[in-house]
Amino acid sequence: MDEKTKSFWSNGLIAKLYRRYAGKRFLKMYKKIAEHVLAEKPRDVLDIGCGPGDFLFYLSSLNPNLNLTGTDPAPGMVTHARNKLRDKAKILEFPAEQQPFPSNSFDAVTVILTFHHIREKTGVLQNARKLLRPGGTLIIGDIIAKSDLQKKFWNFLERIESVRGYVGHYTSSDLRELAERVGFNFSIENVPGMARRYKICRLT
Ligand SMILES: C[S@@+](CC[C@H](N)C(=O)[O-])C[C@H]1O[C@@H](n2cnc3c(N)ncnc32)[C@H](O)[C@@H]1O
Repeated sequence: MDEKTKSFWSNGLIAKLYRRYAGKRFLKMYKKIAEHVLAEKPRDVLDIGCGPGDFLFYLSSLNPNLNLTGTDPAPGMVTHARNKLRDKAKILEFPAEQQPFPSNSFDAVTVILTFHHIREKTGVLQNARKLLRPGGTLIIGDIIAKSDLQKKFWNFLERIESVRGYVGHYTSSDLRELAERVGFNFSIENVPGMARRYKICRLT
């Protein structure tokens, strides 16, 4: 993660507002993802790009016995998540591209509203596959473009705004192709009650 992105997600006004309001704003997505995670009957769950820790907090409220880990490269997010979660989850400062865990460590891995910030998308999927135990699931909840035209437009806007550091939007076909190339099966659904650009993808 470059310094601009790190600083944006640690100290920027938008990051501060995000830490304050995202838990409520994205609760419907967290609920649906939690349903999928809990259906795995997991013991160990990793949330990559965990940000303020709202999803892990919600998950721990549903099942306090889970062994939860979150990673995020922005120190401001890590500090916030640690304060919020205390002993409910272990929070480590790492980018998605460098996850410090041995193979077969998790039953479910989630990447929520973060995959479009990841430059090395293929590498992150390959590594997530290694981190998962056999039969485990990777869940990506994100804002996903409905066409190549929309993807190009969103990426163009990001470039002219140039505030968030790296952003690489993608379509569901792009993600399906990547996922299948890495060896995952891929399915995608809308998030009930949220705009159709928000999607949940299950990679098994
Ligand atoms: C929109 S927030 C989402 C946070 C959280 N997953 C949630 O649902 O609220 C995006 C997060 O992605 C993180 N991020 C940005 N680039 C990243 C990267 N290369 N690897 C992992 N996380 C990254 C940021 O620090 C930020 O916390």
